[in-house]
Amino acid sequence: MNLQTTFYGQPLANCLMNASGVHCMTNTELAELAASQAGAVISKTATLTARAGNPEPRYVDTSLGSINSMGLPNLGLDYYLDYWATRTEPLQFLSVAGMNYTENITALKKIEASDFTGITEFNLSCPNLPGKPQIAYDFELTKKLLTEVFQFFTKPLGVKLPPYFDLAHFDQMAEILNQFPLVYVNSINSVGNGLVIDPKTDAVVIKPKAGFGGIGGEYVKPTALANVRAFYTRLKPEIKIIGTGGVLTGQDVFEHLLCGASLVQVGTQLHQEGPEVFARLTAELAAVMEQKGYQSLADFQGKLKTL
Ligand code: SIN
Repeated sequence: MNLQTTFYGQPLANCLMNASGVHCMTNTELAELAASQAGAVISKTATLTARAGNPEPRYVDTSLGSINSMGLPNLGLDYYLDYWATRTEPLQFLSVAGMNYTENITALKKIEASDFTGITEFNLSCPNLPGKPQIAYDFELTKKLLTEVFQFFTKPLGVKLPPYFDLAHFDQMAEILNQFPLVYVNSINSVGNGLVIDPKTDAVVIKPKAGFGGIGGEYVKPTALANVRAFYTRLKPEIKIIGTGGVLTGQDVFEHLLCGASLVQVGTQLHQEGPEVFARLTAELAAVMEQKGYQSLADFQGKLKTL
């Protein structure tokens, strides 16, 4: 069974990665991921300066997934640029976001001027910053921002998107994204501003934003698969898809690939299980492929059947 793949011209042992935000804040966590069976690693979304994030509790595992309102805690862009400078992985993923329009531009200019040679994931979809709407829900702003970014940014760039729920929105966003030389689109970030209630206390379970937070895990798989499929069938083939959302088993990885994902990220389940999750998922994916008679990812990637 061959789980190998290539992404941006680089061979990877398999298609699995962490989702930015989980187990990737510190050098220690990132090195633990690198030592796991993940095919590639992405660092926590970095802002220009370090942030403590929102007050705790801000991440809670639930029976069907998770709710979080982390608020982009991170050690600052320089920390992650320094981390990646010490590493030799053939493909490095650096997630970044600004706290406002100008900071987005400044952060990307800093990456452009740095020695970083990996792929930058531009996070347009953090739902947890009080008072700040997600950029990628504002189509005009997204187009304006990407237009300005590609006037100076020459390194490989992907974008992390929130989930969309309307076919017209897939059409509109794909039409915008197709105008840019993006390496990939990562769908989906958490389903923003859900609410989980503790039945014992009649209270919300996280402190920030009166309990509203991004939902991940099993709850979100159908939405994630729909977003992967919708963008796979609308984007130009040069723009690859990274599928994120609801990956608990090898079958879930298989389904993301079937919908058109080239790589698959794991968030909630990585948080629950730790980096050993990648060994389990690769073994389970291999078993699914064997049972279906597939030898390689290319045998079924994107080949979802319709009725
Ligand atoms: C957070 O730090 O609030 C989560 C990051 C994200 O959802 O983009």
